[in-house]
Amino acid sequence: MLKIITVIGARPQIIKAAAISRAIKNNYPAKIQELIVHTGQHYDNNMSNVFFEELGIPLPDYNLNVGSARHGIQTARMIEGIEELLIKEKPDYIVLYGDTNSTLAGAVAASKLNIPIVHIEAGLRSYNRKMPEEINRVTCDHLSTLLFSPTKTGYENLKREGFNQNATSHYNPDNPGIFHCGDIMYDNSLYFSDLAESRSKIIEQNNLVKDKYVLSTVHRDHNTDVKENLENIFNALIKISGTIKVVLPLHPRTKNVLKADKHKALYEKIKSNDNIILLAPVSFLDMISLEKNAALVITDSGGVQKEAYFFNNPCIILRPETEWVEIVETGNAILCGADYDKIIEAFNHFENQDKMKFPKIFGDGKASEFILKTMIDNFIIQGNNSHKFT
Ligand code: UD1
Ligand code: UDP
Repeated sequence: MLKIITVIGARPQIIKAAAISRAIKNNYPAKIQELIVHTGQHYDNNMSNVFFEELGIPLPDYNLNVGSARHGIQTARMIEGIEELLIKEKPDYIVLYGDTNSTLAGAVAASKLNIPIVHIEAGLRSYNRKMPEEINRVTCDHLSTLLFSPTKTGYENLKREGFNQNATSHYNPDNPGIFHCGDIMYDNSLYFSDLAESRSKIIEQNNLVKDKYVLSTVHRDHNTDVKENLENIFNALIKISGTIKVVLPLHPRTKNVLKADKHKALYEKIKSNDNIILLAPVSFLDMISLEKNAALVITDSGGVQKEAYFFNNPCIILRPETEWVEIVETGNAILCGADYDKIIEAFNHFENQDKMKFPKIFGDGKASEFILKTMIDNFIIQGNNSHKFT
């Protein structure tokens, strides 16, 4: 039996893990044993627990309870905890998602113990090294054995960085395999879409009308921690709320910053605006429901910009660049950074736009199955546990 350790920590990783855990349960219950390690990077109930209950993910076998801290401290604590568990559990693979500090910690700990790394969401690049996520994803990719890219662009990025597209199994850290397999978040969106319709009450609870509101999320450090950027974004949202309701599930990072003294006046203005609906972070089914019914999405989130696309909605991206270049190339998303004028211009553009096309560019909804099959095939070819530390 193939034993894997999946490391999760931040909200989107818990959601991504649902796709792989579901595919294990449905297709390989007797072939794959999965242990889940939660680093504790996200810990509020509405940033973590709510997803396990709602998405049917097995509860973590271990929680490192690392919590929030500066990058070095947080990552170091995670490495220490993950290393200990890897030595104890001796998995055949470690599975890592995306580009958070939890991803980086898993990659460092596993690579030093010669445990093969499976990186899901490999190859994505913003080409902006000021982003902590860019550092995390580049490092993780270059330590990985199996690299699964959700997009063609991600696959091409890996080739450009020297990965051999003609490598054949047995794959190992010195002979990594790269694959373009589609997006597990798309798998999830298809799977949970109908469930969201039947279970979520968020539209009714907030007296929202389909296509009569904008959904927005903001959490990138460059947008929350640079005063001018935060002000530009929220002033643009206030302006837009003069035309249409704005629904804002607030990431705790953003809420903390808005509550600080230097943003007091701005926060008061937002809170007293009847056309801005401030929410605590919502569950995934509620989020899907909000995304499906919105007229437009305004976000700096990687996951939310893609989900806007999955549900055929235009998106204003509050970043100067994106790893998901395809959605910009289709004309369905516009990069605005934290530039007030660009945000308003993009809003006006989409307000007057109808009949947009959303070609299927994120796979067939079966990326998780492909990933698991490739892992199993490589494990069988490998034929022994020679990669394991002693
Ligand atoms: C992290 C990831 C980012 C990802 C995001 C998803 C890194 C470097 N960043 O950013 O790539 O897009 O998660 O949401 O890994 N906080 C709470 N409660 C929580 C979690 C966080 O109050 O449950 C607050 C704390 O004040 C914390 C701050 O949010 O300091 C930031 O949390 P952190 O996990 O460091 O970064 P994110 O901005 O969430
Ligand atoms: N999400 C959610 N509730 C929220 C905000 C986001 O369930 O209040 C989901 C969203 O649908 C997406 C994922 O969280 O699947 C994106 O996470 P986030 O924006 O925190 O991080 P990123 O994708 O930018 O790394």
